[in-house]
Amino acid sequence: MVAIDLKQALIDEIIMLKKQRNAIILAHNYELPEIQDIADVLGDSLALARTAAKTDADVIAFCGVHFMAETAAILNPNKKVLLPDLDAGCSLADSITAEQLRAWKEEHPGAFVVAYVNTTAEVKALSDYCCTSANAVDVVNAIPAENEVLFLPDMFLGAYVKRMTGRENMQIWMGECHVHAGIAPTDVESIMQEHPDAELLIHPECGCSTSSLYMLAENALPDDRTHILSTGGMLKYVEETPNREFIVATETGIIHQMQKNNPNKTFHAANRTAICPFMKMITLEKLRDALKYDRYVIEVSEELREKALKPIERMIAIG
Ligand code: 13P
Ligand code: SF4
Repeated sequence: MVAIDLKQALIDEIIMLKKQRNAIILAHNYELPEIQDIADVLGDSLALARTAAKTDADVIAFCGVHFMAETAAILNPNKKVLLPDLDAGCSLADSITAEQLRAWKEEHPGAFVVAYVNTTAEVKALSDYCCTSANAVDVVNAIPAENEVLFLPDMFLGAYVKRMTGRENMQIWMGECHVHAGIAPTDVESIMQEHPDAELLIHPECGCSTSSLYMLAENALPDDRTHILSTGGMLKYVEETPNREFIVATETGIIHQMQKNNPNKTFHAANRTAICPFMKMITLEKLRDALKYDRYVIEVSEELREKALKPIERMIAIG
């Protein structure tokens, strides 16, 4: 009882502070359930970047990880962007530095650089296009076929994009997200045996995505029931389809939203241990403190911001 009262008091305080400060709360689909529930906008990386680009709020409280808040700050130089915990990083964004990208570009003069949005502002500043899992195929297709492409940093998403675009002149950085890479082909095989009628939803960052594409080509997976989608794409799909049972191969936090929006459908995590420790660092208490004490303001120098903005804007323009 006391715990419930405390939680409600925190929620009330956050709502009050939000109004006082003309703030908007953005949250990624992997956040804790109580953060998802209090968000004004909940979405995948692309939807959140789009919202950040057009909001008229004075303060953006970003419940996600550092690169997402940094992207919002790049898009909004005149707004205050808050990340409630500065330790909310991303193992994928850490898998390539600006120094490494500079050296890679020198080996491939003239190549177009496509950076997943899960990268630092310094890496974005050296890139031609950004992309997210929702639009990576469209972004690579927008580059003339004769131009070489350097795709970074996720090797599973890169392999997926290479296959979908049929592009041979595409080099892929060998980075990975430890959470998604941990969802193995064997996890998918065993859970499919337990639930043979379920539809299979796979995030392209997953360790199982490459093998799933091969299995699809070999007819070892049901073509009509296997879908490779961004987190936003998954949420949309489960709402629209009449099917009722799903295996979800991505970070497990998304299941809260799926279940909430579709109480009569059943969802199974492909791997129950696929939990992003960075996303779970944002709590109600930290969100309240963020709005109350301006914790922690994400700032990008104007010189860096101008350079990092170009590939983000090109991505937003594509779709
Ligand atoms: P999306 O929400 O864009 O699918 O990305 C998943 C992810 O891992 C974000 O860190
Ligand atoms: Fe980064 Fe992976 Fe966590 Fe997404 S799930 S924020 S890619 S570590």
